[in-house]
Amino acid sequence: MSENALPTRRLGGLDVSALGFGAMVLSPGVYGEIDDARGERALLAAVDAGATLIDTSDGYGADGHNERLIGRALRGRRDEVVIATKFGFRLPEGVEPHPFPVGYAFGELAVNADPKHVRGYAEASLRELGTDRIDLYYPHFPDPQVPLADTVGAVAELVEAGLVRHLGLSNVTADQLREAHAVHPVAAVQTEWSMWRHVDEELLAAARELGVGVVAWSPLGAGFLTGKVGTVEDGDFRQHMPRFDAENHRANNDRFAPVRGIAGELGITPAQLALAWLLDQDEHVVPIPGSRTPAHIRENLAAARVRLSPDVRDRLSAVLAVTEVSGGTLL
Ligand SMILES: NC(=O)c1ccc[n+]([C@@H]2O[C@H](COP(=O)([O-])OP(=O)(O)OC[C@H]3O[C@@H](n4cnc5c(N)ncnc54)[C@H](OP(=O)(O)O)[C@@H]3O)[C@@H](O)[C@H]2O)c1
Repeated sequence: MSENALPTRRLGGLDVSALGFGAMVLSPGVYGEIDDARGERALLAAVDAGATLIDTSDGYGADGHNERLIGRALRGRRDEVVIATKFGFRLPEGVEPHPFPVGYAFGELAVNADPKHVRGYAEASLRELGTDRIDLYYPHFPDPQVPLADTVGAVAELVEAGLVRHLGLSNVTADQLREAHAVHPVAAVQTEWSMWRHVDEELLAAARELGVGVVAWSPLGAGFLTGKVGTVEDGDFRQHMPRFDAENHRANNDRFAPVRGIAGELGITPAQLALAWLLDQDEHVVPIPGSRTPAHIRENLAAARVRLSPDVRDRLSAVLAVTEVSGGTLL
């Protein structure tokens, strides 16, 4: 075991570092400027610092950019990590887009999780990632026009064929999780969860009952919880997020001052407290913070070793229970 090995957690039948790495930020047009050399350095910094769960999607960046970058950066180090990717978001020509309504930034996404396309998606992702297996494979969004059981059935066939090791679900309800789990065991369910975004309690209860791990996306509140986000520049999708418009951002920052104060008392950064708080919520939660910056990545991953005392836990619960947030949510 390397000296940087992090504590591990179990997602269904999959063991991963307690904090993973979310790679979405490594493609241009998400959180602003990024080039491939910087992206590859960031990814390797995460692996070197002990992250063994790398989260991507066929929909991050244009035409498979994110998966391709990961494949290139991990050449020779593939076996050190669990690669999680998602499908149904990168639609080849001729595949009919099915609208999936979401909040503010995008209005509507286009997905297609028809089982007849799923093997093609997986083969494309395997090619981009330069690997012979996807460790954890999620439909990125449940397709409103396709029964989830059918989509999941197609992933089960990929498991049977050895192309995929584990099934995940992303952005689903508790009922959808139960429906899918009845078709094929689900290792992990991915959902937005952070100090400024309450978890779906029914989903969490179902995951606990079924032994499904919970992967928390945007665990730093798209950077807000680090306390370091200033003006959001062009090319950064947070420009379309009401939580980051000038007035809401200022108000939200003021409201989270007590949380940042607790981090200061503990001698850790607000980002580390946000991640340690999530880890403390459930032993099967694995947050996947993203960053382009090696120093931030090492700071974030070090939070896997932070333990919160019962007193701090209670104080944070009390503060967060009365902390309002201005601005809408994505889903
Ligand atoms: N399933 C889904 O639908 C879904 C949706 C959204 C996201 N996700 C997954 O979740 C992952 C993480 O979410 P996310 O990237 O949206 O949000 P996040 O991890 O909450 O925040 C990322 C932002 O925080 C900044 N940051 C990170 N660590 C920092 C630190 N220590 N100090 C200061 N700034 C810091 C990054 O900027 P720098 O680059 O400057 O550090 C970046 O702008 C994604 O990569 C993706 O894999 C999944």
